[in-house]
Amino acid sequence: MSRTLKRLLVAGAAGFIGSNFVRHVRKTRPDVDIAVLDKLTYAGNLANLREFEGTRGYRFVHGDVCDADLVNTLAGQVDAIVNFAAETHVDRSLMDPFAFIETDVRGTAVLCEAARRYGHQAFLLVSTDEVYGQVSEGRSREDDSFRPRSPYSASKAGGEHIAHAYAESFGLPLLVTRGSNNYGPFQYPEKLVPVLVTNAIDGMKLPLYNDGSAVRDYIYVEDHCRAIDLVLHEAAVGGVYNVGTGLETTGLQVAEAVLEITGKPRSLIEFVADRPGHDYRYALDISRISALGWEPQVSFAEGLERTVRWYEHHQDWWRPLKSGDYWEYYKRNYRPLST
Ligand code: NAD
Ligand code: DAU
Repeated sequence: MSRTLKRLLVAGAAGFIGSNFVRHVRKTRPDVDIAVLDKLTYAGNLANLREFEGTRGYRFVHGDVCDADLVNTLAGQVDAIVNFAAETHVDRSLMDPFAFIETDVRGTAVLCEAARRYGHQAFLLVSTDEVYGQVSEGRSREDDSFRPRSPYSASKAGGEHIAHAYAESFGLPLLVTRGSNNYGPFQYPEKLVPVLVTNAIDGMKLPLYNDGSAVRDYIYVEDHCRAIDLVLHEAAVGGVYNVGTGLETTGLQVAEAVLEITGKPRSLIEFVADRPGHDYRYALDISRISALGWEPQVSFAEGLERTVRWYEHHQDWWRPLKSGDYWEYYKRNYRPLST
């Protein structure tokens, strides 16, 4: 199976993974036209896409995936939609769940409806391993049921359910990727890796929830983007794919590795009050995406080293983000372990 797509609408590409995906497609498929639709929330940043401004076959549209008129207009001009647009931070979903329900569920529905109306070749929904919920033992397979436990993961699961319903009921040519924890350049400094890296650079405390024992599968963002591109072009319609490395790393191990690379002392580690409803383990079975011909190319050691160097060399990118509202959020989110 191979699909030729000439014009893509990439929603949410001013964020972390979406901007890396646009970079990947521009490099590997320079003849593909890309329209980006992004609301530019606190997590969206035009600086992530600056190198493409004014280049042939690229355009940026500032707008909301919940705006059906705008989405329909853009959908009428492309062959396929790739949807990254979402509220994405679990901790923020505990403070404002409705923003997540609006974008991650309703926004996905608006995009599905437009893709169906214009008879697109493919609709790729970038989903997450969090839809499976906490996995105490074994590994999640694509046919496992959803047991989301946070407003974020429940909203992502809701968006996925809508997309599957559009596939079943209206023949939407759906493709789904369920990625694990991404890290790398251009990640907003609220997720674990960039919080630890930027705090370490500044000699600040590295906050770990509870005892730092929660396990994640950390995947370098370029590996994830290659997988999305592969599924978009090579997977049969209806395909759902877990995307991860299959390796398990605790938060404490991430913090220790960051301190090692930055040469900062272990005393910077600070255990803080736990995230409510914290999922302590996700683990993916990646045999399906492996059979499609994908494997991760960047080890955690190599990816983290690259990431630390990127943040060291791009302080003009992240320093403006760590100001004002950011510190309001930070104060609200992090509490001492004893409370
Ligand atoms: P991010 O928070 O960095 O970026 C999200 C982008 O979506 C931002 O540019 C934001 O402005 C945009 N956006 C938000 N609401 C919008 C709306 N209503 N209309 C248009 N644009 C809107 O997120 P990310 O980490 O790059 O994640 C991208 C996608 O990948 C999300 O769907 C997320 O659920 C999924 N995902 C993320 C990870 C991860 O580890 N970060 C892992 C698996 C899946
Ligand atoms: O698994 C994929 C998901 O990964 C994506 O769908 C989400 O969009 C993305 O935000 C991410 O969710 P997590 O909650 O796993 O990522 P986060 O970086 O917030 O946290 C990773 C782990 O580290 C988790 O066990 C909580 C812990 N943590 C997080 C932060 C921000 C800390 O101990 N301290 C922190 O400061």
